[in-house]
Amino acid sequence: MELHGKRIALGVTGGIAAYKAAELVRQLIREGASVQVAMTDAATRFVTPVTFQALSGRPVFTDQWDARIGNNMAHIDLSREADALLVAPASADFLARIAHGLADDLLSTLVLARDCPLLVAPAMNRQMWENPATQRNIATLRGDGIAILGPGCGDQACGESGLGRMLEPDELVAALIAHFQPKLLAGCRLLLTAGPTFEAIDPVRGITNLSSGRMGYAIARAAREAGAEVTLVSGPVALPCPPGVTRIAVTSAQQMREAVLQRAGENDVFVGVAAVADYRPASPATRKIKKDGGAPSPIELVANPDILAEVAALPVPPLCVGFAAESHDLHDYAEKKRRAKKIPLIVGNLISDGFGGDDNTLILFDDEGQHPLPTAPKIELARRLVARIATLLEKR
Ligand code: CTP
Repeated sequence: MELHGKRIALGVTGGIAAYKAAELVRQLIREGASVQVAMTDAATRFVTPVTFQALSGRPVFTDQWDARIGNNMAHIDLSREADALLVAPASADFLARIAHGLADDLLSTLVLARDCPLLVAPAMNRQMWENPATQRNIATLRGDGIAILGPGCGDQACGESGLGRMLEPDELVAALIAHFQPKLLAGCRLLLTAGPTFEAIDPVRGITNLSSGRMGYAIARAAREAGAEVTLVSGPVALPCPPGVTRIAVTSAQQMREAVLQRAGENDVFVGVAAVADYRPASPATRKIKKDGGAPSPIELVANPDILAEVAALPVPPLCVGFAAESHDLHDYAEKKRRAKKIPLIVGNLISDGFGGDDNTLILFDDEGQHPLPTAPKIELARRLVARIATLLEKR
């Protein structure tokens, strides 16, 4: 319910992607938003208002002169009651009209009369998108502070392929959720590691661990939503990269170290969330090891570099944040690790409380003491951690 209590005015314009706006309404409502739909006349040729009325549970407005609004001020009332106005799909024609401040139907009038943020999700044929006129209009809208969501790239209804697809409903919902987050890390660059590492024994086998990467990915998403430029150095996980985040995929601890040290100097914050293998096989076999019937040969291990400690020891280190996932004696181990690595903040969690799951229980340890965070979904905890990082950055 990440949009709980939010009032969204959803404008639908004429385009084949209008059918996806129906699913968008469902997803917005599932996230706790209330949705008021307004459609252009062209949109009603693709999907009827009845569909949106049934899904949103509210009457749909299509006409400036709708007699259902007592004062005949639909264009004022509908946007004044909204926390955000999202137009999805936004056709090339509609974007052109609002770029020029035209107000010749209900939805364009609503755009002009709004006093809430406007987000638009363009949807059109790739050549219409690439047309200089459309690009000029998009530049104008960006300059006016309007958020342009997408478009995406891929197969189009017309049979062509390229840029111009409306973003998928779940991507639009994620963009709206991000829009509402406070921009605590605006202008800040944050680097983090996430997931496990995989240390090769031979070309097909290795040493790894059960880290799912979810906590690290949630922090990457929360930091991005808070306005940071985020680089995520990720071990092998099966998770999609959060929108707007730059991901660098690595396998071993040594690769992770290299990717981090290349970038640490140009970042304001480094968060080590990865479960880095402490040891790796000293000399991985270049060919697959075969059973030869005899006793298995032992695997000699050597220590991996401690990436977090190395970053913290740089002459001008970023603000360093570590994690301590423990099965027992969490407080002692977390504080010991914080001091050993000389980092200002470490996040402790008991493995039994959330390794691999959706929820987690965390305790933050810093110079001011301990700050337990209540059990919550990982994205919520990530947002609280981001808030703490923003406070520590301010004090620096
Ligand atoms: N870390 C790192 N590089 C390593 C090992 C750990 O950057 N080679 C980081 C992790 O990302 C995490 C923190 O250091 O932020 C964990 O500290 P550490 O003491 O290394 O944890 P464990 O490896 O779990 O230690 P132990 O096995 O002794 O509990």
